[in-house]
Amino acid sequence: MAKSIQSVRGMNDLLPGRSDLWHTVESAIRSVVGSYGYQEIRTPLVEHTELFQRSIGEQTDIVEKEMYTFLDNNSDSLTLRPEATAACVRAGIEHGFLHNQTQRLWYLGPMFRHERPQKGRYRQFHQFGIEALGWSGPDIDAEILLVGTRLWRQLGLSGLTLEINTLGTSDARTRFREALRDYLGTRREEIDKDSQRRLQSNPLRILDSKDPGTREVLDTAPDLLDFIAGDARADFDTLQHLLTANGVEYRVNSRLVRGLDYYTGTVFEWTTGSFGAQSAICAGGRYDELVTQLGGRAMPAAGFACGLERLVDLYEHSGGCGASEPFDVWICILGDNAVSRGFSVAERLRDQGLRVMANCGGGGLRKQFRKADQSGACFAVVIGEDEIKSQTLTVKSLRTEEEQTRLSEEQLVEYIKRER
Ligand code: HAM
Repeated sequence: MAKSIQSVRGMNDLLPGRSDLWHTVESAIRSVVGSYGYQEIRTPLVEHTELFQRSIGEQTDIVEKEMYTFLDNNSDSLTLRPEATAACVRAGIEHGFLHNQTQRLWYLGPMFRHERPQKGRYRQFHQFGIEALGWSGPDIDAEILLVGTRLWRQLGLSGLTLEINTLGTSDARTRFREALRDYLGTRREEIDKDSQRRLQSNPLRILDSKDPGTREVLDTAPDLLDFIAGDARADFDTLQHLLTANGVEYRVNSRLVRGLDYYTGTVFEWTTGSFGAQSAICAGGRYDELVTQLGGRAMPAAGFACGLERLVDLYEHSGGCGASEPFDVWICILGDNAVSRGFSVAERLRDQGLRVMANCGGGGLRKQFRKADQSGACFAVVIGEDEIKSQTLTVKSLRTEEEQTRLSEEQLVEYIKRER
């Protein structure tokens, strides 16, 4: 026997038993984003590598070590998208739909990061995200957070915590970066190797370190919020006011920074305590400089992305289930002569909008009845020699005690629609 081939590590099949769960979550997403006027955008899975280098940042984990990058036959460096924000902006600039216009976009699809796989962390994973382009105020930040909150509520999720922070103006960030670098410079020996390396290049990222020693040093580090003043402070206050007024629970975490370089003002993250290490369900923030960084005219923007594997797991964990519709009818087909009639009856019922399974592969009546019953179908319709001769069909209710009955094809449609 030939050796079997396995899927690529960290890239999973979505098996039929779970796809209903995903459909339920995806349709809740569609309904919620639609109710806020967000429109779907689909961008390619592959982009020029430079797009991610210029947006996410050269010194981030994603660009330094997690991208699936390859040369195509023309020797162009291409990358499987690790996220979709940069592509939304790229598409907006390329197609001119950002020019003097505001846009509310949403997307859903696979992303790729070469991380160490574990529960909740995969190399191919799916994100649903929204991006609001063209608004600079805290109103849109609040709207984005309301979209997420509504979705969690619609899915019946519990145990999610929202943390928010602001990275302020670029001036404030520069001053904070210097203060942090000075402070950490004095305690260089106590922080982890990665953080030491980032001290010069990207000290803000050190705030995200998981190393216990570094975390202890960070306890007494300068506080980012102390550097935020003026309009940035007022915007952050307004955002909090809007959240509170609309019943969104949150916590300000002045240590919250994000793993991508394009963020500017508000940043946030929803986490859950349900799954150990991979606790971030949804995260995002404001990225007011990305459009210019990617060659467009200055335009403020904000958005988030949510990990679907984690969201679906949490939905299941919170008692959610997939809403697969059972069949209305299972057609039992007895003998080769009955196949053609069985199929034509099935098609006729489907024409009426009914969900119908026609038995394939033969088998006796008992076996077919058993399969029909297990499928959850409401009715079994039997077609064998007798039914062909008499131009009738035998109908049996699988969910009530009602006697089985013989009907013509015309009567069958009426009967099933009435009784189901
Ligand atoms: P991110 O924090 O890199 O942000 O990813 C967002 C979410 O994607 C995470 O909170 C997590 O739920 C999920 N995720 C990330 N990596 C993995 C993985 N390896 N396996 C499973 N799930 C994962 C972004 O991607 C930004 N583009 C978000 C954004 C949109 N900011 C503004 N607009």
